[in-house]
This record gives sequence, structure tokens and C-alpha cells, in this order.
Amino acid sequence: MTAQAAQQDTKSEDNPLDRLSTLLRDDMVRVNEKILTHMQADVALIPQLAGYLIASGGKRIRPLLTLAATMLSGGDMNRAYGLAASVEFIHTATLLHDDVVDGSLARRGKDTANLVFGNQASVLVGDFLFSRAFQLMVKDGSLEILRILSDASAIISQGEVKQLATTNNLQTTMNDYIEVISAKTAALFAAACEIGPVIAGQDLSAQIALRDYGLNLGIAFQIADDVLDYNADQKKLGKTIGDDFREGKMTAPILLALENATPPERSFWQRTIGQKQQNDDDLMQAMEILERHNALHKGLEMARTYGKKSVTALHNIKGGTQNEPLAAALSGLVEFSINRGY
Ligand code: IPE
Ligand code: IPE
Ligand code: MG
Ligand code: MG
Repeated sequence: MTAQAAQQDTKSEDNPLDRLSTLLRDDMVRVNEKILTHMQADVALIPQLAGYLIASGGKRIRPLLTLAATMLSGGDMNRAYGLAASVEFIHTATLLHDDVVDGSLARRGKDTANLVFGNQASVLVGDFLFSRAFQLMVKDGSLEILRILSDASAIISQGEVKQLATTNNLQTTMNDYIEVISAKTAALFAAACEIGPVIAGQDLSAQIALRDYGLNLGIAFQIADDVLDYNADQKKLGKTIGDDFREGKMTAPILLALENATPPERSFWQRTIGQKQQNDDDLMQAMEILERHNALHKGLEMARTYGKKSVTALHNIKGGTQNEPLAAALSGLVEFSINRGY
């Protein structure tokens, strides 16, 4: 059974992500067709590698956002399919690159593409998928949408590069961290939402409201991801726990624990993160320190603050309540993104 089939099997109406996927099931079928068609290329390694990652599933949150934002805005769903595929291609490309940069070994419950096909192939196929994303935008023909998604792509790369500068750097502030995640993650969530009202030809206020919803949702989503990196059920998450600690990433849990660290704790972070000197049992000790400072709980509280902003933005969409089930599912998605285990 594929990972995706396994996920489908456990679909439940209690899960807000599943509720959203169910509402948009037929549309998502069309998006998946576009994804499969456009990942094809004459060089066999491209569909092999791209197909390996794409067939492993993934939550498909970003294309769902594009579909939902378009439907909520009363836009032409036929245009949304190609653009939602384009958004998922951008996401897939960043995952391929991110796993090389992070040296990650597991993704979506399988060995990473870099582990199976090598770093070089992963980077190059990532580039291919980025290009395919832009071809799909050009095919749609809206210069405004091309602007929104190309801006987001540039911002994502800037965020990943900025993150490099904060890695192993104990001087990193919470503000730096929020800047990094706003760029590397939330920019694409925001863009995925913003193109909905643009497809529908709605006014700027609808564009701003949906963009704001996506941006704050994306920030909450990444803070939750950074908490999960310390406490998730690895099997359910499909990624390796402790990657961020081993990589020296200055994410919310560490930043929160540093706020009132004792001198021995500070020297622990200095050695393990600042000087990259880690022993086998250091991850356990890091988790104990995080626990002592309630840092994972505080991280989720932070995520909830952004979650609330996201829901407020959703309420600001004029006429957004015309599709009550869809608006409710989008609101539920905020809660899911914070409380998720995968
Ligand atoms: C992973 O995103 C990268 C982050 C922004 C944390 P997702 O958690 O949406 O990944 P998939 O697509 O569901 O695998
Ligand atoms: C997300 O950051 C990467 C991008 C959005 C490009 P992470 O490095 O935390 O994502 P995971 O944990 O590998 O999925
Ligand atoms: Mg990573
Ligand atoms: Mg992560």
C-alpha cells in the first residue's frame, strides 16, 4: 500500500485536514492529474525521482489552500487546478533542496530522495520542478499571479539562506527566527491563498485577507513543525526526530529555553549548538532542558497566537461565509496545523 493510500484509509471527519480534502476531493483529483502529467520529462531520472517523492503522499496542504481560496472567492476552478499544481511543485522543489541542505534521511515515511538518488540528482530535479511551476503559471497567463508566486519563490530562498546564518548562532533572536520562518514557509502558504481571489478578479481587500490568513497559518505551521522535531512520533511524522538539534537549528523550542537558561544550560547549548560538539546522549539532555522550561508547550502557545491572527483574517473576508463548510474547514485547518502529529 502506498503512503498516500494508507493516509486515505485513515481519513476521518474529526480531522480538519481530512474535512477540507473531502470537500475538495474531485478538484484535488484534477490537481493530481496535472501534477502527474507535468512531472514527466524525456530524461527518465526526472519522473523517477520526482515521482518517488510525489507518490509518497504528503498532506497537499498548499494546493488545497489554492483550491479553497479560489472556491471561496467564486473563481474559475479550471484555472485553479494548474496553479495549485504549480504551488505543489514549488513546495516539492523546496523539499528536495531542503533535505540536501539539512542532510535529512527520512521524508514522508521513506528514505529521502537524496539518500536514494544522491544529492546532485535531488538538486537538479528540484530545479526542474521549479521550472515546471513557472511554465504552469505562464500557461495560466496572469502576470499578477506570476508576480505573486515568483515573489514567494525568491522569498523562500532568502529565508533558507538567512536560516544558514542563524544556524549554530546563539545570538539568534526570536525576531530573526520569525523572519526566517515567515520567509521559508509562510510566504508560500500566503501566496497559495492569495492567488484564489486574483483568479476570481476580486478586489484588493479579499486578496489581503486571504494572504494574511495564509501567512499567519504558515508561521503557526512551521512553529508546530519545529516543536514536532523534538516530540513527534517519528513513524507518524515520517521524518527523523532531532534533526534540528543535530543541525544546530535555532528554532522556537531552543530560543524559548534560552530565555531563562541557567549558566550550566547555557554552556550546554554553547557546546552542542554553538560549537557543534555533540555526543550521543545530548539530544536526550536537550529534551530534558526543553521540558524543564516548558519550551515545547510555550512553542505551541506561540503558534496559537499566530493561529488566532489567521482565523481573524479569515473572518475579514467579505462574503467569505457564503460557503460556510469551506470557511469552517479553513478555520479548522489552523487548529490542525498546530495540533498535528504529521
Ligand atoms: C514540510 O511541509 C516542510 C515544512 C514547511 C515544515 P509539509 O509538512 O506540508 O510536508 P508534506 O508535503 O505534508 O510532506
Ligand atoms: C521547512 O523547514 C523547509 C522549507 C519550507 C523550504 P524544515 O527544514 O523544518 O522542514 P522539514 O522539517 O525538513 O520538513
Ligand atoms: Mg529540513
Ligand atoms: Mg522541520
